[in-house]
Order: sequence, then C-alpha cells, then structure tokens
Amino acid sequence: VEKDAFRSDLISWFEREQRNLPWRKDQDPYKVWVSEIMLQQTRVDTVIPYFNRFLEEFPSIADLANADEEKVLKAWEGLGYYSRVRNLQSAVREVEATYDGKVPDTLEEISKLKGVGPYTAGAILSIAYGRPEPAVDGNVMRVLSRVLFIWEDIARPATRKIFEEAVRELISKENPSYFNQALMELGALICTPTSPSCLLCPVREHCQAAAEGVQAELPIKTKK
Ligand code: ADE
Repeated sequence: VEKDAFRSDLISWFEREQRNLPWRKDQDPYKVWVSEIMLQQTRVDTVIPYFNRFLEEFPSIADLANADEEKVLKAWEGLGYYSRVRNLQSAVREVEATYDGKVPDTLEEISKLKGVGPYTAGAILSIAYGRPEPAVDGNVMRVLSRVLFIWEDIARPATRKIFEEAVRELISKENPSYFNQALMELGALICTPTSPSCLLCPVREHCQAAAEGVQAELPIKTKK
C-alpha cells in the first residue's frame, strides 16, 4: 500500500462524510471513554440517547466517581452488560484517587484501569490525546484484512496483535485520531460485512481484496 496516499484518501473522506455523533463534539478523554465503553456491545443508534443522558447526569469524572452505584446502574438500564459500567465507575474512582482526576495519557497507565482493554486504551489515547496508538476492533480488522490481504483468522485472540502491528505501520502520525476513527467509520458505512460498497469506497484503489474481487471472502472468521 502507498501509505501516504492511503492515509490522505482515508482521512479526507472522514472529514467529508463522518456522521455527526455526540461524542465527536470534543476530545474530552472522559467522554471518549464513556462512548467507547457503551459502543463495545451496543449499536451506535442505541448508544446516542444513553450517552447524552449519562453525560447530563454525570458530566465529569468527579461526578461519576462520587455518584451512588444504583444511580449509575439506573442510567445504564437497557444497555446491558452491566459489568461495563461497574468497571467504569471503579476505574474513574481510581483516576480520581491516583491521577488527580485526569485520565492518564500513556498506554502503560491507562491499560491498568479496570475494563480498559487494548481497544479502549488505543481509542482514548488516539482520539483524546492524539497519540499514534492502534484501536483495533472487529470493524477495523474487517477493513484492514481486505485492504492489506490479511488471511488470519480474526476469531483467534492472537490475531488482534497482527492487526495492531499493521496499524502501527500505517497510522497517520499527524492525525491518529481521524485515522483510527476513519477506519471505524469506513467499516460501519462502506466496508460492511456482507456486501461492501466498494464503488463508493475512498480507498478502493489501495485495496488488495477489491483488486482481486474477493472482498466478500474476507475477513476469515472461524466460529468460536
Ligand atoms: N464504534 C466504536 N467506536 C466508535 C466511534 N468512536 N464512533 C463510531 N462508532 C464507533
């Protein structure tokens, strides 16, 4: 792949076409964090009203850290996977206690927080702090398996590291935030699981799967 051309085609498309989503209004690490946790097992359309209400009720890390657990669970009601929000509250309490209320900006520190795995860590570091860290979820693996012709089984836990290495090589150092969000957005809007819209794709000319006409055969995913 021609890296510079790929990056600029991807990021220009994101600048033109990105959806107007409430967590994209600013780069507050707390808001990025809440949104990424909500989005992990829940659709964007479902998350939007929950995100807005949650931020109204708990506008800051201090507010969430000091809130009663039952109020927090109530605000999450309907989203499911309640361990996500229990971990989140426990982690913001840790941020209050250990980091003076400021979300840490290194991979090492942020990864110690409860519920912050490699994807969430990379999303917060890149989107809120502009650090060139990979944020690899299923969408990103789908897009990059096609563009880069990666035939590893994405159902294997070890495969994520292969994609993280690919992102480290490819990521824009000028705009890691838009680079990562553009990969997510491309996976959501264009490079979809069953019938990707290659004719509308901003990086079609960089895509090895499209060149071979095998985009629908990637990624490889054995059932677990
Ligand atoms: N899915 C995961 N993270 C997302 C984000 N920041 N925007 C839209 N969809 C997402």
